[in-house]
Amino acid sequence: MASLTQYLTQLFQQTLTELGADPSYGQVIPSNRPDLGQFQANGALAAAKSLKRNPRELAQAILDTLPQKEIFADLSIAGPGFINIRLTDQFLRQQTQHVHDDIRLGLKKVARPRNVLVDYGGYNVAKVLHAGHLRPTIIGEAIRRTFVHAGDHVLGDVHLGDWGLQMGQLIEEIRLRQPDLPYFDPGHTSPYPDDSPVTMDDLLTLYPQASARAKEDEAFAAAARQATYDLQHNHPGYRALWQHFVNVSIRDIKRHLALLETEFDYWLGESDAEPYLLPMIEQLKRDGFAYESQGALVMDVTDPSDKKEMPPLILVKRDGAVLYGTTDLATIAMRVEKFNSEFIIYVVDIRQAMHFKQVFRAAHKSGIAPHVELEHAGFGTINGPDGRPFKSRSGENVTLGEILQMALEKAAERVAEIDNEEAPYTPEERATIARYVGMATIKFADLMNHRSSDYILDMERFSAFEGKTGPYLLYSTVRAKSILRKAAAANLTPGPIVTPTTDVERELLLKLGEWPDMFWQAYHERAPNHLCEYAYLVATAFNRFYRECHILREPDPARQTGWLALTDLTRRMLEQVMTLLNITIPERM
Ligand code: ARG
Repeated sequence: MASLTQYLTQLFQQTLTELGADPSYGQVIPSNRPDLGQFQANGALAAAKSLKRNPRELAQAILDTLPQKEIFADLSIAGPGFINIRLTDQFLRQQTQHVHDDIRLGLKKVARPRNVLVDYGGYNVAKVLHAGHLRPTIIGEAIRRTFVHAGDHVLGDVHLGDWGLQMGQLIEEIRLRQPDLPYFDPGHTSPYPDDSPVTMDDLLTLYPQASARAKEDEAFAAAARQATYDLQHNHPGYRALWQHFVNVSIRDIKRHLALLETEFDYWLGESDAEPYLLPMIEQLKRDGFAYESQGALVMDVTDPSDKKEMPPLILVKRDGAVLYGTTDLATIAMRVEKFNSEFIIYVVDIRQAMHFKQVFRAAHKSGIAPHVELEHAGFGTINGPDGRPFKSRSGENVTLGEILQMALEKAAERVAEIDNEEAPYTPEERATIARYVGMATIKFADLMNHRSSDYILDMERFSAFEGKTGPYLLYSTVRAKSILRKAAAANLTPGPIVTPTTDVERELLLKLGEWPDMFWQAYHERAPNHLCEYAYLVATAFNRFYRECHILREPDPARQTGWLALTDLTRRMLEQVMTLLNITIPERM
Protein backbone atom coordinates (compact mmCIF):
# COMPACT_ATOMS: atom_id res chain seq x y z
CA MET A 1 0.00 0.00 0.00
CA ALA A 2 1.15 3.44 -0.79
CA SER A 3 0.16 6.92 0.29
CA LEU A 4 -2.21 8.85 -1.97
CA THR A 5 0.61 10.98 -3.37
CA GLN A 6 2.78 7.91 -3.94
CA TYR A 7 -0.04 6.24 -5.78
CA LEU A 8 -0.73 9.27 -7.96
CA THR A 9 2.96 9.84 -8.58
CA GLN A 10 3.25 6.31 -9.94
CA LEU A 11 0.42 6.95 -12.40
CA PHE A 12 1.97 10.20 -13.58
CA GLN A 13 5.45 8.71 -13.86
CA GLN A 14 4.13 5.84 -15.95
CA THR A 15 2.38 8.37 -18.19
CA LEU A 16 5.48 10.51 -18.63
CA THR A 17 7.52 7.46 -19.58
CA GLU A 18 4.91 6.59 -22.18
CA LEU A 19 5.18 10.10 -23.57
CA GLY A 20 8.96 9.76 -23.84
CA ALA A 21 9.78 12.06 -20.93
CA ASP A 22 11.82 11.35 -17.83
CA PRO A 23 9.56 9.83 -15.13
CA SER A 24 11.09 12.06 -12.45
CA TYR A 25 8.84 14.85 -13.72
CA GLY A 26 5.82 12.93 -12.49
CA GLN A 27 5.96 13.97 -8.83
CA VAL A 28 2.50 14.65 -7.35
CA ILE A 29 2.17 16.65 -4.11
CA PRO A 30 -0.70 17.79 -1.90
CA SER A 31 -2.07 21.04 -3.28
CA ASN A 32 -1.24 24.34 -1.66
CA ARG A 33 -4.40 25.71 -3.29
CA PRO A 34 -7.20 23.49 -1.94
CA ASP A 35 -9.70 25.66 -3.83
CA LEU A 36 -8.20 24.42 -7.12
CA GLY A 37 -7.56 20.79 -6.27
CA GLN A 38 -6.50 18.26 -3.66
CA PHE A 39 -3.20 17.49 -5.36
CA GLN A 40 -1.01 19.05 -7.98
CA ALA A 41 1.51 17.85 -10.54
CA ASN A 42 3.89 20.59 -11.59
CA GLY A 43 6.37 18.63 -13.70
CA ALA A 44 4.79 19.21 -17.12
CA LEU A 45 6.66 22.51 -17.57
CA ALA A 46 10.11 21.07 -17.01
CA ALA A 47 9.24 17.92 -18.93
CA ALA A 48 8.06 20.01 -21.89
CA LYS A 49 11.29 21.97 -21.83
CA SER A 50 13.33 18.75 -21.95
CA LEU A 51 11.23 17.49 -24.88
CA LYS A 52 11.14 20.91 -26.56
CA ARG A 53 7.35 20.82 -26.54
CA ASN A 54 4.70 23.32 -25.59
CA PRO A 55 3.97 22.89 -21.82
CA ARG A 56 0.18 23.25 -21.99
CA GLU A 57 0.07 20.81 -24.88
CA LEU A 58 2.18 18.29 -22.98
CA ALA A 59 -0.01 18.76 -19.89
CA GLN A 60 -3.03 17.97 -22.07
CA ALA A 61 -1.27 14.90 -23.51
CA ILE A 62 -0.56 13.72 -19.95
CA LEU A 63 -4.24 14.03 -19.03
CA ASP A 64 -5.29 12.18 -22.21
CA THR A 65 -2.83 9.35 -21.59
CA LEU A 66 -3.30 9.04 -17.81
CA PRO A 67 -4.68 5.59 -16.86
CA GLN A 68 -7.36 4.89 -14.21
CA LYS A 69 -9.51 7.85 -15.18
CA GLU A 70 -12.29 6.54 -12.96
CA ILE A 71 -10.48 7.62 -9.76
CA PHE A 72 -10.41 11.30 -10.74
CA ALA A 73 -13.29 13.65 -10.07
CA ASP A 74 -11.47 16.49 -11.75
CA LEU A 75 -8.27 17.01 -13.72
CA SER A 76 -7.53 20.49 -14.99
CA ILE A 77 -4.68 22.52 -16.38
CA ALA A 78 -3.89 25.87 -14.83
CA GLY A 79 -1.57 28.64 -15.96
CA PRO A 80 1.31 27.56 -18.18
CA GLY A 81 0.82 23.82 -17.48
CA PHE A 82 0.19 23.02 -13.81
CA ILE A 83 -2.13 20.08 -13.33
CA ASN A 84 -4.74 20.19 -10.56
CA ILE A 85 -6.17 16.94 -9.33
CA ARG A 86 -9.29 16.00 -7.39
CA LEU A 87 -10.10 12.41 -6.48
CA THR A 88 -13.57 10.89 -6.46
CA ASP A 89 -15.20 10.43 -3.09
CA GLN A 90 -15.54 6.71 -3.83
CA PHE A 91 -11.80 6.37 -4.38
CA LEU A 92 -11.05 8.32 -1.19
CA ARG A 93 -13.38 6.03 0.70
CA GLN A 94 -11.78 2.92 -0.72
CA GLN A 95 -8.23 4.09 0.02
CA THR A 96 -9.14 5.07 3.57
CA GLN A 97 -10.69 1.65 4.08
CA HIS A 98 -7.34 0.11 3.05
CA VAL A 99 -5.48 2.26 5.58
CA HIS A 100 -8.04 1.29 8.18
CA ASP A 101 -7.68 -2.42 7.46
CA ASP A 102 -3.89 -2.34 7.62
CA ILE A 103 -2.39 -2.71 11.09
CA ARG A 104 0.50 -0.52 9.92
CA LEU A 105 -1.87 2.17 8.69
CA GLY A 106 -0.56 2.03 5.14
CA LEU A 107 3.10 2.18 6.01
CA LYS A 108 5.54 -0.31 4.49
CA LYS A 109 8.81 -1.31 6.10
CA VAL A 110 12.27 -0.63 4.71
CA ALA A 111 13.22 -3.08 1.96
CA ARG A 112 16.57 -3.87 3.51
CA PRO A 113 16.75 -3.39 7.27
CA ARG A 114 20.06 -2.09 8.56
CA ASN A 115 21.83 -2.37 11.89
CA VAL A 116 21.35 1.12 13.20
CA LEU A 117 22.83 2.45 16.40
CA VAL A 118 21.50 5.65 17.92
CA ASP A 119 23.99 7.39 20.22
CA TYR A 120 21.98 9.73 22.40
CA GLY A 121 21.62 11.07 25.92
CA GLY A 122 25.37 11.52 26.34
CA TYR A 123 25.20 12.23 30.10
CA ASN A 124 28.40 12.62 32.05
CA VAL A 125 29.36 10.72 35.17
CA ALA A 126 29.53 12.82 38.31
CA LYS A 127 28.10 15.88 36.60
CA VAL A 128 24.70 17.44 36.85
CA LEU A 129 22.21 16.62 34.10
CA HIS A 130 21.74 19.96 32.47
CA ALA A 131 19.31 21.38 29.94
CA GLY A 132 21.66 20.32 27.16
CA HIS A 133 20.95 16.69 28.00
CA LEU A 134 17.19 17.00 27.75
CA ARG A 135 17.13 17.50 24.00
CA PRO A 136 19.26 14.48 23.05
CA THR A 137 17.11 12.33 25.30
CA ILE A 138 13.82 13.44 23.78
CA ILE A 139 15.01 13.71 20.18
CA GLY A 140 17.15 10.58 20.31
CA GLU A 141 14.27 8.53 21.67
CA ALA A 142 11.94 9.73 18.88
CA ILE A 143 14.55 8.96 16.23
CA ARG A 144 15.22 5.54 17.73
CA ARG A 145 11.49 4.73 17.73
CA THR A 146 11.10 5.96 14.17
CA PHE A 147 13.84 3.62 12.96
CA VAL A 148 12.41 0.69 14.89
CA HIS A 149 9.03 1.33 13.31
CA ALA A 150 10.60 1.45 9.86
CA GLY A 151 11.83 -2.09 10.42
CA ASP A 152 15.53 -1.49 11.01
CA HIS A 153 17.47 -3.33 13.70
CA VAL A 154 18.04 -0.55 16.16
CA LEU A 155 20.08 -0.19 19.33
CA GLY A 156 20.13 2.82 21.59
CA ASP A 157 23.37 3.49 23.45
CA VAL A 158 23.76 6.28 25.98
CA HIS A 159 27.54 6.74 25.55
CA LEU A 160 28.23 7.96 29.07
CA GLY A 161 30.98 10.52 29.47
CA ASP A 162 33.03 8.53 31.96
CA TRP A 163 36.64 8.54 30.83
CA GLY A 164 37.98 12.05 30.67
CA LEU A 165 40.11 14.30 32.84
CA GLN A 166 37.18 15.03 35.16
CA MET A 167 37.56 11.48 36.49
CA GLY A 168 41.19 12.05 37.51
CA GLN A 169 40.27 15.39 39.08
CA LEU A 170 37.59 13.75 41.17
CA ILE A 171 39.90 10.97 42.26
CA GLU A 172 42.45 13.52 43.44
CA GLU A 173 39.83 15.64 45.16
CA ILE A 174 38.63 12.62 47.11
CA ARG A 175 42.21 11.68 47.98
CA LEU A 176 42.68 15.13 49.52
CA ARG A 177 39.62 14.71 51.69
CA GLN A 178 39.76 11.02 52.51
CA PRO A 179 43.37 9.91 52.00
CA ASP A 180 42.86 6.75 54.03
CA LEU A 181 40.38 5.15 51.66
CA PRO A 182 41.62 1.75 50.45
CA TYR A 183 41.47 2.92 46.80
CA PHE A 184 44.60 4.98 47.44
CA ASP A 185 46.51 2.28 49.27
CA PRO A 186 48.96 0.60 46.87
CA GLY A 187 49.33 -2.34 49.28
CA HIS A 188 45.59 -3.04 49.39
CA THR A 189 44.90 -6.64 48.38
CA SER A 190 41.41 -7.64 49.59
CA PRO A 191 38.35 -6.69 47.52
CA TYR A 192 37.31 -3.04 47.63
CA PRO A 193 34.16 -2.02 49.54
CA ASP A 194 30.77 -2.49 47.87
CA ASP A 195 29.39 0.78 49.21
CA SER A 196 30.27 4.01 47.53
CA PRO A 197 32.26 6.49 49.63
CA VAL A 198 30.36 9.30 47.86
CA THR A 199 26.72 10.04 47.09
CA MET A 200 25.42 11.83 43.99
CA ASP A 201 25.14 15.03 46.00
CA ASP A 202 28.77 14.64 47.08
CA LEU A 203 29.82 14.19 43.47
CA LEU A 204 27.90 17.24 42.39
CA THR A 205 29.70 19.42 44.92
CA LEU A 206 33.09 17.71 44.64
CA TYR A 207 33.44 17.95 40.92
CA PRO A 208 33.16 21.76 40.57
CA GLN A 209 35.57 22.12 43.48
CA ALA A 210 38.02 19.74 41.85
CA SER A 211 37.93 21.48 38.53
CA ALA A 212 38.35 24.89 40.17
CA ARG A 213 41.29 23.58 42.16
CA ALA A 214 42.90 22.22 39.00
CA LYS A 215 42.81 25.67 37.50
CA GLU A 216 44.60 27.28 40.44
CA ASP A 217 46.91 24.59 41.67
CA GLU A 218 49.35 23.23 39.09
CA ALA A 219 50.53 20.38 41.35
CA PHE A 220 46.93 19.25 41.78
CA ALA A 221 46.31 19.53 38.05
CA ALA A 222 49.37 17.40 37.32
CA ALA A 223 48.27 14.80 39.86
CA ALA A 224 44.80 14.74 38.27
CA ARG A 225 46.31 14.16 34.84
CA GLN A 226 48.41 11.35 36.26
CA ALA A 227 45.36 9.83 37.97
CA THR A 228 43.44 10.02 34.68
CA TYR A 229 46.30 8.27 32.93
CA ASP A 230 46.46 5.60 35.63
CA LEU A 231 42.72 5.07 35.57
CA GLN A 232 42.83 4.69 31.80
CA HIS A 233 45.63 2.16 32.29
CA ASN A 234 43.73 0.01 34.75
CA HIS A 235 44.96 1.12 38.17
CA PRO A 236 42.84 -1.26 40.30
CA GLY A 237 42.04 1.14 43.16
CA TYR A 238 41.09 3.99 40.85
CA ARG A 239 39.08 1.65 38.72
CA ALA A 240 37.09 0.52 41.79
CA LEU A 241 36.53 4.08 42.99
CA TRP A 242 35.54 5.16 39.50
CA GLN A 243 33.03 2.30 39.31
CA HIS A 244 31.28 3.85 42.31
CA PHE A 245 31.08 7.19 40.49
CA VAL A 246 29.53 5.43 37.53
CA ASN A 247 27.01 3.43 39.57
CA VAL A 248 25.93 6.40 41.65
CA SER A 249 25.55 8.54 38.52
CA ILE A 250 23.60 5.93 36.56
CA ARG A 251 21.17 5.55 39.43
CA ASP A 252 20.58 9.31 39.42
CA ILE A 253 20.20 9.41 35.63
CA LYS A 254 17.69 6.56 35.67
CA ARG A 255 15.58 8.39 38.19
CA HIS A 256 15.22 11.29 35.76
CA LEU A 257 14.69 9.01 32.80
CA ALA A 258 11.83 7.20 34.53
CA LEU A 259 9.84 10.41 34.29
CA LEU A 260 10.76 10.81 30.63
CA GLU A 261 9.91 7.14 30.03
CA THR A 262 13.17 6.53 28.25
CA GLU A 263 15.31 3.40 28.52
CA PHE A 264 18.50 2.53 26.70
CA ASP A 265 19.44 -0.84 25.25
CA TYR A 266 23.03 -0.23 26.30
CA TRP A 267 24.55 1.80 29.08
CA LEU A 268 28.01 1.82 27.61
CA GLY A 269 30.43 4.64 28.16
CA GLU A 270 33.58 6.08 26.70
CA SER A 271 35.43 3.65 28.98
CA ASP A 272 33.99 0.64 27.17
CA ALA A 273 36.07 1.54 24.16
CA GLU A 274 39.19 1.10 26.30
CA PRO A 275 40.09 -2.41 25.04
CA TYR A 276 39.94 -1.08 21.49
CA LEU A 277 42.12 1.96 22.08
CA LEU A 278 45.62 0.52 22.04
CA PRO A 279 45.15 -1.85 19.11
CA MET A 280 43.51 0.98 17.19
CA ILE A 281 46.33 3.41 17.92
CA GLU A 282 48.90 0.76 16.99
CA GLN A 283 47.11 0.12 13.72
CA LEU A 284 46.89 3.82 12.93
CA LYS A 285 50.62 4.17 13.54
CA ARG A 286 51.48 1.09 11.52
CA ASP A 287 49.38 2.18 8.56
CA GLY A 288 50.95 5.62 8.63
CA PHE A 289 47.85 7.58 9.64
CA ALA A 290 48.99 8.57 13.12
CA TYR A 291 52.13 10.64 13.58
CA GLU A 292 53.89 12.65 16.27
CA SER A 293 53.41 16.37 16.48
CA GLN A 294 54.78 18.42 19.38
CA GLY A 295 54.87 15.38 21.61
CA ALA A 296 51.27 14.38 20.87
CA LEU A 297 50.05 11.68 18.53
CA VAL A 298 47.75 13.15 15.88
CA MET A 299 46.01 12.17 12.69
CA ASP A 300 45.51 14.28 9.61
CA VAL A 301 41.85 14.45 8.61
CA THR A 302 41.98 17.03 5.83
CA ASP A 303 40.29 16.51 2.52
CA PRO A 304 41.19 18.17 -0.79
CA SER A 305 37.66 19.63 -0.92
CA ASP A 306 38.15 21.55 2.38
CA LYS A 307 37.56 25.26 2.09
CA LYS A 308 38.27 25.99 5.75
CA GLU A 309 41.17 24.86 7.84
CA MET A 310 40.73 21.36 9.24
CA PRO A 311 42.81 20.78 12.36
CA PRO A 312 44.29 17.31 12.93
CA LEU A 313 42.53 14.95 15.32
CA ILE A 314 44.56 14.58 18.52
CA LEU A 315 44.67 10.92 19.51
CA VAL A 316 47.07 10.85 22.46
CA LYS A 317 48.15 13.91 24.40
CA ARG A 318 51.72 14.59 25.45
CA ASP A 319 50.93 13.19 28.93
CA GLY A 320 49.68 9.92 27.42
CA ALA A 321 45.96 10.48 28.06
CA VAL A 322 43.44 9.88 25.30
CA LEU A 323 40.81 12.43 24.36
CA TYR A 324 37.11 12.56 23.56
CA GLY A 325 37.77 12.01 19.84
CA THR A 326 39.99 9.00 20.46
CA THR A 327 37.35 7.25 22.53
CA ASP A 328 34.71 8.14 19.95
CA LEU A 329 36.86 6.59 17.25
CA ALA A 330 37.53 3.45 19.27
CA THR A 331 33.82 3.29 20.12
CA ILE A 332 33.06 3.08 16.40
CA ALA A 333 35.49 0.15 16.15
CA MET A 334 33.71 -1.49 19.09
CA ARG A 335 30.25 -0.90 17.65
CA VAL A 336 31.26 -2.41 14.35
CA GLU A 337 32.76 -5.46 16.01
CA LYS A 338 30.15 -6.03 18.74
CA PHE A 339 26.96 -4.90 17.04
CA ASN A 340 27.86 -5.04 13.39
CA SER A 341 26.62 -1.46 13.13
CA GLU A 342 26.03 -0.23 9.60
CA PHE A 343 24.70 3.19 10.43
CA ILE A 344 25.42 5.25 13.54
CA ILE A 345 23.39 8.35 14.32
CA TYR A 346 24.80 10.77 16.89
CA VAL A 347 22.14 12.91 18.51
CA VAL A 348 24.47 15.50 19.96
CA ASP A 349 24.61 19.30 20.32
CA ILE A 350 25.13 20.94 16.95
CA ARG A 351 28.12 22.83 18.35
CA GLN A 352 30.05 19.56 18.29
CA ALA A 353 29.86 19.44 14.49
CA MET A 354 33.62 19.90 14.04
CA HIS A 355 34.41 17.12 16.47
CA PHE A 356 32.21 14.66 14.58
CA LYS A 357 33.52 15.74 11.22
CA GLN A 358 37.03 14.91 12.40
CA VAL A 359 36.04 11.60 13.94
CA PHE A 360 33.99 10.50 10.91
CA ARG A 361 36.79 11.41 8.51
CA ALA A 362 39.26 9.49 10.65
CA ALA A 363 36.99 6.43 10.78
CA HIS A 364 36.44 6.43 7.05
CA LYS A 365 39.89 7.13 5.75
CA SER A 366 41.83 4.98 8.19
CA GLY A 367 39.87 1.83 7.50
CA ILE A 368 38.48 1.62 11.06
CA ALA A 369 34.99 1.70 9.60
CA PRO A 370 35.29 2.52 5.91
CA HIS A 371 31.76 1.49 5.01
CA VAL A 372 29.79 2.50 8.06
CA GLU A 373 27.47 5.41 7.55
CA LEU A 374 28.09 8.00 10.26
CA GLU A 375 25.82 10.95 10.84
CA HIS A 376 25.69 13.78 13.32
CA ALA A 377 22.03 14.68 13.88
CA GLY A 378 22.75 17.92 15.71
CA PHE A 379 20.33 19.93 17.82
CA GLY A 380 20.15 23.56 18.92
CA THR A 381 19.90 25.04 22.41
CA ILE A 382 17.00 25.74 24.75
CA ASN A 383 17.00 29.48 25.28
CA GLY A 384 15.51 31.93 27.72
CA PRO A 385 13.31 34.89 26.70
CA ASP A 386 16.51 36.88 25.99
CA GLY A 387 17.43 34.41 23.26
CA ARG A 388 20.46 33.12 25.16
CA PRO A 389 20.80 29.66 26.76
CA PHE A 390 18.17 29.33 29.48
CA LYS A 391 19.31 30.25 32.99
CA SER A 392 17.59 29.88 36.34
CA ARG A 393 16.56 32.98 38.30
CA SER A 394 19.86 32.97 40.17
CA GLY A 395 21.66 33.00 36.83
CA GLU A 396 22.85 29.41 37.00
CA ASN A 397 22.60 26.93 34.17
CA VAL A 398 19.28 25.24 34.53
CA THR A 399 19.27 21.50 35.20
CA LEU A 400 17.31 18.86 33.39
CA GLY A 401 15.44 18.11 36.61
CA GLU A 402 14.42 21.75 36.96
CA ILE A 403 12.99 21.91 33.46
CA LEU A 404 10.97 18.76 34.06
CA GLN A 405 9.77 20.24 37.33
CA MET A 406 8.67 23.44 35.58
CA ALA A 407 6.69 21.40 33.05
CA LEU A 408 5.06 19.31 35.76
CA GLU A 409 4.06 22.32 37.84
CA LYS A 410 2.56 24.11 34.87
CA ALA A 411 0.66 20.96 33.90
CA ALA A 412 -0.68 20.53 37.43
CA GLU A 413 -2.02 24.10 37.28
CA ARG A 414 -3.71 23.42 33.94
CA VAL A 415 -5.15 20.09 34.99
CA ALA A 416 -6.54 21.61 38.18
CA GLU A 417 -8.78 23.72 35.94
CA ILE A 418 -10.37 20.92 33.94
CA ASP A 419 -13.22 18.68 34.84
CA ASN A 420 -14.73 15.61 33.35
CA GLU A 421 -18.36 15.39 32.42
CA GLU A 422 -18.50 11.56 32.56
CA ALA A 423 -17.15 11.07 36.05
CA PRO A 424 -15.13 13.39 38.30
CA TYR A 425 -11.42 12.67 38.72
CA THR A 426 -10.01 11.20 41.87
CA PRO A 427 -6.97 13.09 43.19
CA GLU A 428 -4.70 10.21 42.05
CA GLU A 429 -6.15 10.29 38.56
CA ARG A 430 -5.67 14.03 38.39
CA ALA A 431 -2.03 13.61 39.42
CA THR A 432 -1.47 10.97 36.75
CA ILE A 433 -3.06 13.14 34.08
CA ALA A 434 -0.92 16.08 35.17
CA ARG A 435 2.20 13.96 34.79
CA TYR A 436 1.22 12.90 31.27
CA VAL A 437 0.31 16.46 30.35
CA GLY A 438 3.60 17.72 31.76
CA MET A 439 5.66 15.28 29.77
CA ALA A 440 3.62 15.85 26.61
CA THR A 441 4.18 19.58 27.11
CA ILE A 442 7.94 19.45 27.18
CA LYS A 443 8.41 16.61 24.70
CA PHE A 444 6.16 18.02 22.02
CA ALA A 445 7.62 21.51 22.42
CA ASP A 446 11.11 20.12 22.09
CA LEU A 447 10.29 18.04 19.02
CA MET A 448 7.98 20.41 17.21
CA ASN A 449 10.64 22.59 15.56
CA HIS A 450 13.40 21.15 13.45
CA ARG A 451 16.00 19.77 15.86
CA SER A 452 18.71 22.05 14.54
CA SER A 453 16.87 25.22 15.56
CA ASP A 454 17.11 26.77 18.99
CA TYR A 455 13.88 27.46 20.84
CA ILE A 456 12.74 29.68 23.66
CA LEU A 457 11.39 27.88 26.70
CA ASP A 458 7.87 29.14 27.28
CA MET A 459 5.95 26.71 29.49
CA GLU A 460 2.88 28.92 29.42
CA ARG A 461 2.52 28.52 25.68
CA PHE A 462 3.80 24.92 25.51
CA SER A 463 1.22 23.72 28.04
CA ALA A 464 -1.86 25.37 26.46
CA PHE A 465 -4.75 23.07 25.56
CA GLU A 466 -5.22 24.96 22.28
CA GLY A 467 -2.69 25.47 19.50
CA LYS A 468 0.22 23.37 18.36
CA THR A 469 1.03 21.78 21.70
CA GLY A 470 1.37 18.39 23.34
CA PRO A 471 -1.69 18.88 25.56
CA TYR A 472 -3.81 19.76 22.51
CA LEU A 473 -2.86 16.44 20.95
CA LEU A 474 -3.59 14.53 24.12
CA TYR A 475 -6.91 16.27 24.33
CA SER A 476 -7.84 15.44 20.74
CA THR A 477 -6.89 11.80 21.10
CA VAL A 478 -8.75 11.47 24.35
CA ARG A 479 -11.79 13.04 22.69
CA ALA A 480 -11.72 10.37 19.98
CA LYS A 481 -11.42 7.70 22.64
CA SER A 482 -14.29 9.13 24.60
CA ILE A 483 -16.59 9.13 21.54
CA LEU A 484 -15.74 5.49 20.95
CA ARG A 485 -16.38 4.67 24.59
CA LYS A 486 -19.77 6.37 24.54
CA ALA A 487 -20.66 4.61 21.30
CA ALA A 488 -19.71 1.24 22.76
CA ALA A 489 -21.87 1.96 25.79
CA ALA A 490 -24.77 2.56 23.39
CA ASN A 491 -24.01 -0.71 21.61
CA LEU A 492 -22.73 0.98 18.48
CA THR A 493 -19.81 -0.67 16.71
CA PRO A 494 -17.70 0.86 13.91
CA GLY A 495 -18.74 -0.28 10.41
CA PRO A 496 -17.21 0.22 6.95
CA ILE A 497 -15.86 3.69 6.09
CA VAL A 498 -18.52 5.67 4.21
CA THR A 499 -18.17 7.81 1.12
CA PRO A 500 -17.48 11.38 2.25
CA THR A 501 -20.06 14.01 1.37
CA THR A 502 -18.63 17.08 3.13
CA ASP A 503 -15.32 18.90 2.91
CA VAL A 504 -14.47 18.27 6.54
CA GLU A 505 -14.72 14.52 5.90
CA ARG A 506 -12.68 14.74 2.70
CA GLU A 507 -9.97 16.70 4.47
CA LEU A 508 -9.69 14.15 7.23
CA LEU A 509 -9.54 11.27 4.74
CA LEU A 510 -6.87 13.05 2.73
CA LYS A 511 -4.78 13.65 5.85
CA LEU A 512 -5.07 10.04 6.95
CA GLY A 513 -3.75 9.02 3.53
CA GLU A 514 -0.62 11.13 3.97
CA TRP A 515 0.96 9.16 6.78
CA PRO A 516 3.68 7.36 4.77
CA ASP A 517 4.81 10.66 3.21
CA MET A 518 5.25 12.30 6.59
CA PHE A 519 6.78 9.25 8.21
CA TRP A 520 9.48 8.80 5.59
CA GLN A 521 10.34 12.44 5.66
CA ALA A 522 10.92 12.19 9.40
CA TYR A 523 12.91 8.99 8.87
CA HIS A 524 15.17 10.26 6.12
CA GLU A 525 15.85 13.62 7.72
CA ARG A 526 16.05 12.19 11.27
CA ALA A 527 13.58 14.98 11.96
CA PRO A 528 10.71 14.18 14.35
CA ASN A 529 9.21 17.63 13.78
CA HIS A 530 7.48 16.18 10.69
CA LEU A 531 5.71 13.71 12.98
CA CYS A 532 4.62 16.56 15.24
CA GLU A 533 3.32 18.52 12.29
CA TYR A 534 1.39 15.51 11.02
CA ALA A 535 -0.15 14.73 14.40
CA TYR A 536 -1.26 18.33 14.65
CA LEU A 537 -2.82 18.36 11.18
CA VAL A 538 -4.66 15.09 11.79
CA ALA A 539 -5.92 16.38 15.13
CA THR A 540 -7.19 19.67 13.69
CA ALA A 541 -8.85 17.88 10.75
CA PHE A 542 -10.49 15.50 13.20
CA ASN A 543 -11.70 18.30 15.46
CA ARG A 544 -13.30 20.09 12.49
CA PHE A 545 -14.97 16.86 11.43
CA TYR A 546 -16.18 16.25 14.97
CA ARG A 547 -17.68 19.72 15.21
CA GLU A 548 -19.61 19.42 11.96
CA CYS A 549 -20.55 15.76 11.92
CA HIS A 550 -22.45 14.88 15.05
CA ILE A 551 -21.51 11.24 15.25
CA LEU A 552 -23.54 10.14 18.24
CA ARG A 553 -26.68 11.93 17.03
CA GLU A 554 -26.46 10.85 13.37
CA PRO A 555 -29.77 9.15 12.32
CA ASP A 556 -28.39 7.19 9.32
CA PRO A 557 -26.90 3.99 10.80
CA ALA A 558 -24.42 3.36 7.91
CA ARG A 559 -23.10 6.86 8.23
CA GLN A 560 -22.94 6.72 11.97
CA THR A 561 -20.99 3.47 12.10
CA GLY A 562 -18.78 4.66 9.21
CA TRP A 563 -17.95 7.81 11.13
CA LEU A 564 -17.16 5.70 14.17
CA ALA A 565 -14.70 3.73 12.03
CA LEU A 566 -13.17 7.01 10.93
CA THR A 567 -12.92 8.13 14.54
CA ASP A 568 -11.27 4.86 15.45
CA LEU A 569 -8.81 5.21 12.58
CA THR A 570 -7.97 8.74 13.70
CA ARG A 571 -7.41 7.49 17.23
CA ARG A 572 -5.06 4.75 16.01
CA MET A 573 -3.19 7.21 13.82
CA LEU A 574 -2.71 9.72 16.63
CA GLU A 575 -1.68 6.97 19.03
CA GLN A 576 0.82 5.68 16.48
CA VAL A 577 2.42 9.06 15.94
CA MET A 578 2.48 9.84 19.65
CA THR A 579 4.08 6.47 20.37
CA LEU A 580 6.88 7.41 18.01
CA LEU A 581 7.22 10.73 19.80
CA ASN A 582 7.25 8.83 23.11
CA ILE A 583 4.24 10.77 24.38
CA THR A 584 1.88 8.75 26.58
CA ILE A 585 -1.83 9.43 26.31
CA PRO A 586 -4.06 9.26 29.37
CA GLU A 587 -7.30 7.25 29.22
CA ARG A 588 -9.33 10.41 29.77
CA MET A 589 -8.77 14.06 30.56
N1 ARG B 1 29.07 13.50 26.92
C1 ARG B 1 29.01 14.42 25.85
C2 ARG B 1 28.53 15.79 26.33
O1 ARG B 1 28.00 15.93 27.43
C3 ARG B 1 28.08 13.94 24.74
C4 ARG B 1 28.42 12.62 24.15
C5 ARG B 1 27.84 12.46 22.77
N2 ARG B 1 28.19 11.22 22.11
C6 ARG B 1 29.36 10.95 21.55
N3 ARG B 1 29.55 9.79 20.98
N4 ARG B 1 30.34 11.81 21.55
O2 ARG B 1 28.72 16.77 25.62
